Order: sequence, then structure tokens, then C-alpha cells
Amino acid sequence: MRIALFGGSFDPVHYGHIELIRDSLGSGTCDIVIVIPTVNNSFKRGRILIPAPYRYYMTRQVISDTFKENVFVSDVEFGFEGISYTVNTVRKVVSDSFIIPFLMKNGISGEAAAERHQFFWLCGSDILPTFDKWYKPEEILSYVALLVAKRAGDDTDIYEQGARLKSLFGCDIATFEMSGVDQASSEIKMEGAYDKLPGVVQEFIATHDIYNTVKALDHCSDEACMKFYDHAVKLYPYLSGKRLLHTLNVGLLSAKLAHDHGEDCDKALIAGTLHDCAKELPMDEQKKMAKAVCGDLFVDDKLLHSPAGAYMARTMFGIDDKEILDAITYHTTGRGGATILDKIVYLADKIEPSRTYTDLTEMRRLAPSDLDASLKLCVLSVADKFKRKGRAIHPVTLDFMSDLGL
Ligand SMILES: [Fe+2]
Ligand SMILES: [Fe+2]
Repeated sequence: MRIALFGGSFDPVHYGHIELIRDSLGSGTCDIVIVIPTVNNSFKRGRILIPAPYRYYMTRQVISDTFKENVFVSDVEFGFEGISYTVNTVRKVVSDSFIIPFLMKNGISGEAAAERHQFFWLCGSDILPTFDKWYKPEEILSYVALLVAKRAGDDTDIYEQGARLKSLFGCDIATFEMSGVDQASSEIKMEGAYDKLPGVVQEFIATHDIYNTVKALDHCSDEACMKFYDHAVKLYPYLSGKRLLHTLNVGLLSAKLAHDHGEDCDKALIAGTLHDCAKELPMDEQKKMAKAVCGDLFVDDKLLHSPAGAYMARTMFGIDDKEILDAITYHTTGRGGATILDKIVYLADKIEPSRTYTDLTEMRRLAPSDLDASLKLCVLSVADKFKRKGRAIHPVTLDFMSDLGL
């Protein structure tokens, strides 16, 4: 098969990306496109891009909504340490140990998946003038040929650039005409013109309110931001998509609320981000971890992930700050004598943008100005849910409620 690899930041995915994929398939130069969102953990890029899990899940949603076959999204870069260079991605993807199971998982027959494939790197012509400055261009071109989209009104001389690269690296360049619209992620973000994006992308952005909430990072230190981007990738194998995006939303909202209430934004960012890190571990593991943190204080299965999360945050994410670990331990229950950080993480967990379990309008309105007032509404709503389900409220929550005057 002829397989085109299409790497990019996809921050956000736009019609230009969709049309590029559609036209490459329509041109008959490739049979399959594998879309690869860059994970790139480099800190500088981190300040510019939203964290990789948002970009990956946004891309998956729009691709599965747009293409019924022959276009797949890969999470291959989540397995890389540090900066993900194209050469590492390509080397991995073209290997039999990766590509055969990947294609079979995406519905390609074992026989077709095991064929000897021809690989392309799918790109716009704008990369040609600088391609030789990429990291290890020669090695990249030993795995893939370039498949270049020629856009209408494109002023890059593809043939001249192609001849230049050919003389440098002896590589092949295939081209195809791109008929569809062109867009640029940077312009869309700068103008806030999200209504020009595919409907599924608009919905994703609105659900997580991501281009607004990410501004909370402006209040955090460089070191905390770096950890946040790092944790977002490190959490990927441990949590389902929905839960991972929830935890990142909680991290960002916690940082924002910490700024609103004069609390430490860095601690709030990290505590919020890791609060549910243990939630999808097997229950026996959660039990052991929880016991190590607070003995038999919590025995209800639904509460174990909180202290287990503190254990995991300490042992796997290197967090040793007691305030952060306590905020994780008590994020489900609250506690008597709760700190502002405890309250922020508790509340952010219940009202982050993707939450829809009840009408959260008033809690969200109050949260930036009156933390306790918002928290009271939140705790009452949780207590009410417990009552309806016939579940007992934990004694530490009763202490929490009493402190709030409930
Ligand atoms: Fe939780
Ligand atoms: Fe949560």
C-alpha cells in the first residue's frame, strides 16, 4: 500500500487539513493517510500549543466524523521521551513492528497490512525551502518520499525546491493539486475565528473552553507549566480520553481560581491536573495505595482513587509538596479545616467546563469572586445526590460541610 504520514500540531484542526487529506487521497498518489498529531513536549512550544491530549482527541473526533475509511489517527508520539522529532516518528511508523498491528487494528486485513509499503510524508509546499534544516533530513528521506500539496495561489516553486532537495539528498518528490480551501491555525487563533472550523472541532473547543482556560498558564511559573505539559503526556496511558481531558480541565481551572483568590497558581495547576490520576487503576492497586496514604480512612471504592492519586502523584510524578498531595487526597470528600487549595481543587473538579451533570451556572458565576458561596452550592448539590441514592456522607465531608456553615 502507499501510505502517507501527515504530521502536524493540529492546534486546532481546520478545513485546510481536511482538504489536504481529501485531495491527497483523491489524487491517487496514496491509498491511506495516517494523521500524527505532534506531542512535542518542548517547553517553548508548550507555551504556544495547547497540551497534546487536547490536540490528539480533537483530531480523532474530526477525522472519524469526516472520513469513513482510509484515514487513521496515531498516538505514536505519546510513547516518546522528550522532544518528538519527525525522524523518530517516521522511523518508528515505517517499522513492521508498528505498522502491521496499527493497520490491522484499523480494519486492514493481515495480508494487506504485511505487504511491503511505500511511505510518503504528506505536507504543504511551504516546508520545502526549509526542509533541509530539519533534524536529520537525510534519514527522514531514507524512509519516506515527500508528497507535496500544491495549493492554488502558492508561490513556492515546487520544481525548483524539489530539484534542490534532490541534489542534496537524492530524494523523490510527488505532488498533487489542492483544490480546497486553505486556512492557518495561527490566524484562526489570533482572530478567535473558531466559527470557521469544522462543526465537530467547534464543539470540542466549546466543551472544554480550551483556548480560554489555557490562558490560566499565564499566571503560572515556567517550571509549573513545563510540569503540566509533561504530566499531560505522562497521564495518557493511565486514563481514558474523557477522563484525561477532565483532569487537564481541572488543572487549568484550579490555576485560574487560585489566581482569582490569591492562592499559589503553580500548586493548584499541578494538584488539579493529577487529582484523578489513579482513578482507572485496578481497584486492588487503588486499595493498597490508599492504605499507604491514610490507612482505613476511606473504604468506599468510589473514594479510594483520591488518596491513591496522592500516592501515585508522589511516587510516579515526583510530587512531594504536602499541600498538593492533601488537595488530591481530599478532592472527593473535602475535609474539616480544608485549605483554600483543597477547596479550589474540590470545586474545579465539579465545575470544569466539560461538566454537565446539573445546572452549574450559578456555581460557575460565583466561583471567581466568592469561593465559599460557590462551594456551598456545590457541596449541597453533591449531598443531595448522595441522599437520593441512599449513600451515606463520609464523616470528613460532614466536617467540611460544618466548616462551611451547612
Ligand atoms: Fe475524582
Ligand atoms: Fe475528577
